[in-house]
Amino acid sequence: MILWVAAALLLAISCGETVRSLDETLLTSPDGGLTLQFGLSGSGRPYYALKRGGEDVILPSGLGFDLTDGTSLKDGFAVVSVEKDSLDETWTPVWGEEDKIRNHYNEALVSLKDSLGNAMNIRFRLYDDGLGFRYEFPLENKLVYFNIREELTEFALTGDHTAWWVPGDYDSQEYNFKECRLSEISRYCEEMRIPNASQEGYSPWGVQTAIQMKTDAGLYLNIHEAAVLDYPAANLLYDPARKTFQIHLTPDAQGVKGRLQAPCKTPWRTMMVCPSATDVLASRLILNLNDPCVIEDVSWIHPVKYVGVWWEMITHKTKWSYTDDYPSVQLGVTDYAASTPHGKHGANNENVRRYIDFAAENGFDAVLVEGWNEGWEDWFGKKKDFVFDFLTPYPDFDLPALNAYAHQKGVRLVMHHETSSSTLNYERWMEKAYTLMNQYGYDAVKSGYVGFIIPYGERHNSQPTINHYHYAITEAAKHHIMVNAHEAVRPTGLCRTWPNMIGNESAMGTEFRARINPGHTAVLPFTRLQGGPMDYTPGIFEQDMSITAPGQEGKMHHTLCNQLGLYVTFYSPLQMAADLPENYERFPDAFQFIKDVAVDWDRSIYLQAEPRKVIVTARHPKLSTLNASAESLAKLPDGRKDVISGAARFVYALPEDAKSLKGATPHDVWYVGGVGGPEEQTVTFTLDFLKPGAQYEATVYADAPEADYETAPQAYTITRETVDASKQYTLRIARGGGFAISLREIL
Ligand code: NOJ
Ligand code: CA
Repeated sequence: MILWVAAALLLAISCGETVRSLDETLLTSPDGGLTLQFGLSGSGRPYYALKRGGEDVILPSGLGFDLTDGTSLKDGFAVVSVEKDSLDETWTPVWGEEDKIRNHYNEALVSLKDSLGNAMNIRFRLYDDGLGFRYEFPLENKLVYFNIREELTEFALTGDHTAWWVPGDYDSQEYNFKECRLSEISRYCEEMRIPNASQEGYSPWGVQTAIQMKTDAGLYLNIHEAAVLDYPAANLLYDPARKTFQIHLTPDAQGVKGRLQAPCKTPWRTMMVCPSATDVLASRLILNLNDPCVIEDVSWIHPVKYVGVWWEMITHKTKWSYTDDYPSVQLGVTDYAASTPHGKHGANNENVRRYIDFAAENGFDAVLVEGWNEGWEDWFGKKKDFVFDFLTPYPDFDLPALNAYAHQKGVRLVMHHETSSSTLNYERWMEKAYTLMNQYGYDAVKSGYVGFIIPYGERHNSQPTINHYHYAITEAAKHHIMVNAHEAVRPTGLCRTWPNMIGNESAMGTEFRARINPGHTAVLPFTRLQGGPMDYTPGIFEQDMSITAPGQEGKMHHTLCNQLGLYVTFYSPLQMAADLPENYERFPDAFQFIKDVAVDWDRSIYLQAEPRKVIVTARHPKLSTLNASAESLAKLPDGRKDVISGAARFVYALPEDAKSLKGATPHDVWYVGGVGGPEEQTVTFTLDFLKPGAQYEATVYADAPEADYETAPQAYTITRETVDASKQYTLRIARGGGFAISLREIL
């Protein structure tokens, strides 16, 4: 209270106004650790502040908006009412890191009105692990239709914290994370902005959400947002003099930062406050702030482990396109059948069948095929509205036959819709494209948004484009299609409401190859993955691009075991084994881990963590969803009915002679994964999560003593031993390294 008054007085001096204390403590978190204060300044501006155990976490920080018509929603307010509430519920995600999530908060709805009749309410929810708040504009209001010039929400910080961040940008999120002090952001911002097909920065002090921070006292703070719908995505702008972040929204093509109509609400602004880094990974704040699932029948949504005709195009071994004959192509006019193929088209019948065979033999659910449809000759950099129709295959891709072949082998094909960022064109074709998928038995689509957005001038993160991504999700749900969107806005927990959103890229993924810095994957779970799973596409065993694609250059900055660890440290119900089949065939013993590992979990334990340095996670598979993919395939007319084939990823839990989990007593199974950063290190942890008294066969995939991402990336050891819950491991993680452990109960 004394500190709050002192802060209020300081504010009074600096702004020439006083902050009246509305309520010394507006809210306390359920465990009493966090306290939220709220008040109005002398000019009637709403302020909030947050403390943990009596210590400041967020100093008095302003709230409100400036509107494009000159209306100020940052002063002149009076409090009309304060309503308090609380909730303690446990909900069941369709897929996730655990089978039950507790949503426990205390809430206050502060209703504000100014003398002109503008009504703005602020709903605060205080959890044990952080704060969420959003603005709500009720129907009874002078404000009906209004446009935002800027949202003025602030986060005033208590010190020059260490931060892990990517540059603020309206279009791209595909950047390495920088670790530095907040005061140093502008020094590094430009060098972090590596070239991208579409990007637009706004300030050397701009960063994106989520940003992870650590105070000198060792408290982990994370600013993000939840449930971004019909509103632009938020970046942040840092003011070093005031040590304050302010929200910086993405403008639309006309510079408007949100067109609203009351009644409406903004996304949640969030500040996670955790005493340890492992608590950040365990936090479900973002998911909890989203609405419950609205899809009634979720039986068609299932985890997917997949391979793809993909890495070969990314590495330029083959191509998405079909011919070099024409300087430009036009769908419906260009006669592909009459053209001369350049001979490097990856999505050809023979090659796709090779991947299907590989998937079937190794127990994958699906094969992604990119470059199957006409138009790729004009895909990149043309800023062309109509590039693809999402319907017409190239002459050498027999869509019906390849699907039938896959289904008979016990796998599905994953559809690919590169929109070339013409959201306009994708919406024109979407219904037909999804209907085609239904006709041939595709139940998942990877979409993509490379290049600047069309309608011209829109951004990847502006309100109209956010509405497009959401439209795609809801239309896909009507067709029972799961969506994995690349280059779309970073997710903000909407997968709780629409669990057909099984993946997103929305950060720098494996495709950036040698440009990915070591330690990148030890930051992503703190930041990008807080909003939902990432299709990071791990599993690259061959780091040297000249071996994968002769004539190419560059070496990736990870060891082989680092890639294995990612299957556990990154949560995603959609996991790819991204490397070429021929690269996996060179390392069959290490590939075994990717075959064995599950992708959906009923329990996750975060054993060790520090951003950019290390993450060690243990997970227990959720047996109830294990056969879901195979069962859904068996329902197709040409689908293989023998569930084991499509479900081989679960064999690790099955007794040797069982054909299915049904009726079998599975082995208890755990997986542990670890990933490191730029420095070599040793980690120690105990398997005390195993069933007491039970014995397990442990298979440990570890960086060999000489392993190092630069000098010996493929040096690994595999050891097998019998262990129990008392087992303590001390493992070396190489520079850019990692490890993976499979634990299978001995029955
Ligand atoms: C970028 C995506 O991230 C990548 O996965 C995809 O292969 C290309 N776009 C082409 O759509
Ligand atoms: Ca991408």
